[in-house]
Amino acid sequence: MSEDMRYLTFALGKGRLAKKTLELFEQIGITCEEMKDKDSRKLIFVNEEHKLKFFLAKGPDVPTYVEYGAADIGVVGKDTLLEEQRRAYEVLDLGFGKCRMCVCGPASAKELLKHHEMIRVASKYPNIAKDYFYNKKQQTVDIIKLNGSVELGPIVGLSDVIVDIVETGSTLRENGLDVLEEICPLSARMIVNQVSMKMEAERIKKLIADIKEIL
Ligand code: PRP
Repeated sequence: MSEDMRYLTFALGKGRLAKKTLELFEQIGITCEEMKDKDSRKLIFVNEEHKLKFFLAKGPDVPTYVEYGAADIGVVGKDTLLEEQRRAYEVLDLGFGKCRMCVCGPASAKELLKHHEMIRVASKYPNIAKDYFYNKKQQTVDIIKLNGSVELGPIVGLSDVIVDIVETGSTLRENGLDVLEEICPLSARMIVNQVSMKMEAERIKKLIADIKEIL
C-alpha cells in the first residue's frame, strides 16, 4: 500500500450485522483484531495494512454517514435502506440477516386488510408502512411510530396490526400474532457513497469482486 493512499471508511450497523460483516471480511483477508474485543467501548478501528477504517453506528444512521461521505461504504439491513431513503448505491446483497417485512396481527385482523378500512398500524418503520398501505394497497391508515417491541401494539390495543420484521416467527407465535401479509424480503446490503464510487473506483470494485467470489 502506498503511503499517500487515503483510508476507505466503513460504517457498520452495531450488533448482529457488524459481527457477520467482520466474519465476511476475514474471509477475504481483511481483519481488524481490536474490533473483536466485546468489552471495548471504542467506536472506530483502523487497519493500517490495508488503509481501512471501520466504525460502528446505530443501524438507521449508517445510510446517513454514507450519503454525506463520512463513510465510503456501509453495511446495513434492507429494511433500514427502505425506511431512511438516503442517496447511495446499493451494490451487494450480502445474503445474511435474511428476514421478511410483514403486516402482522391477530388472525381476526385479516378481514380489516381486505376492505380498505381505516385501521391503525404501529411500526418502527413508518415510511415502509406508509408506502405499502398508501401506494401499493391504496388503503388509508393511521400510522403510529414505535421504537421497538412493536408486537405490543395489537396486544394492548394501541393498533389493529403492525408492520415489522419477522425472522424465525417466534416473537409472533409467543404473543398470539400471525403474519397477515408479506411486504418484502430483507437481508444485509452493502452501500457505497456516490462520489467514493467514482474517486475510489478501483479499490471499491476490487472489494466488491472479492466479496462476490466468496458469497
Ligand atoms: C425484531 C423484530 C421482531 C423480532 C422478530 O426485534 O422487530 O420483534 O426481532 O424476530 P423473530 O421472528 O425471530 O422472533 P428486535 O429483537 O430487533 O427488537 P425490537 O423489538 O426492540 O425492535
